[in-house]
Amino acid sequence: MELSGKRVLLIIGGGIAAYKALELIRRLKDAGASVHAILTAAGAQFITSLSVSALSGERTYQELFDLTVESEMGHIALSRAADLLVVAPATADLMAKLAVGLAPDLASTALLATDKPVLLAPAMNVRMWQHPATRRNLAALTRDGIHIVGPNDGEMACGEFGQGRMAEPAEILAAITAILKPVNLAGIRALVTAGPTHEPIDPVRYLGNRSSGKQGYAIAEALFNAGAETVLVSGPVALTAAATSKLVRVETAIEMRDACEAALPVDIAICAAAVADWHVEHPHTTKLKKPNAPPSLVLVENPDILAELSHHPTARPKLVIGFAAETGNLLVNAAAKRAAKGCDWIIANDVSTDTQGKSVMGSDSNRVHLLSEAGAESWPLLSKRDVAQRLTAKIAQFFGRAA
Ligand code: C5P
Repeated sequence: MELSGKRVLLIIGGGIAAYKALELIRRLKDAGASVHAILTAAGAQFITSLSVSALSGERTYQELFDLTVESEMGHIALSRAADLLVVAPATADLMAKLAVGLAPDLASTALLATDKPVLLAPAMNVRMWQHPATRRNLAALTRDGIHIVGPNDGEMACGEFGQGRMAEPAEILAAITAILKPVNLAGIRALVTAGPTHEPIDPVRYLGNRSSGKQGYAIAEALFNAGAETVLVSGPVALTAAATSKLVRVETAIEMRDACEAALPVDIAICAAAVADWHVEHPHTTKLKKPNAPPSLVLVENPDILAELSHHPTARPKLVIGFAAETGNLLVNAAAKRAAKGCDWIIANDVSTDTQGKSVMGSDSNRVHLLSEAGAESWPLLSKRDVAQRLTAKIAQFFGRAA
């Protein structure tokens, strides 16, 4: 069984989605994990400790200062004995407490006291999810390395429609498995491209695409952490260096292509860079002056690194993965791109702005679909780090390395 011997501490917050936590316990047990649960006071308004214990087969913890429990197992030990802490549903209140480090009750104390990974499955009203305070807390939690799964779009118990529904138990279980299942890519060589390219117009101006580089950096780190020898070829980004075997910084698409070529042979190539499609044929060597007439620029197509790697005559990687950032007809366009580029997998994401005018670009989370020969697999909204980790698990499966 996938999670045999693993111990999960499940914190059940207050919200109608608490009933799904019961289903999650059942699925975790079916997968071989043992589950200890903390039911918050708000959570206990929705489900009872009796039903939690009936499913977990363990006593359910509720009070911070419960002397009997403290003598059996202190709250610190409770949070350390687990391999993973899962908060489902994670309310806006629980997220806020964890983001600032408040610990007024057992759940928040366990979260603060743990030295283990933490996964949150947020569930709340759409307005609460979109509130600037929740956005700030989410960004802080992601920076702190907290894993996030969901929330999903859909109809909510409060009658409103939007993002805020807790991820389904199966999605939470998949996120848990991705975190807890050891992946070993030792001996595998990986190449990752990330960030934009800058194509000079003159010494101060350039053509470029929007790209923070966050997703590519997260992928390189996840592969490196799994033991792969990883070369990250990065365009100009504002990120600090990632944990990789080698980081090659480049400016232009041609430099990026040359750096990729120099990194071959590799087993996997992942092209997450937003490469500019064209470069200026003859960039000016001196700064163009504004009072003069606007320059006409002759543009020349850049090499398509993904397509070149996919059709490499001598050193085609065993697995080539590209990205498709689309603003409409996502799956159709992404499938066409997979065929056109000749890569094995495409990770498709919608980069149109949301109702708040915010785009996935530069944000910390991403909702993607993985397209392969086998079809399309849709993942819930995940932090970019969790997308990277899940992709790494998929890659491990491909190479027969999954535990
Ligand atoms: O053609 P488009 O830019 O939409 O394709 C996106 C995919 O192709 C991404 O994986 C990107 O990294 C890769 N690409 C590339 N070289 C280019 C253009 C795109 O590697 N010149």
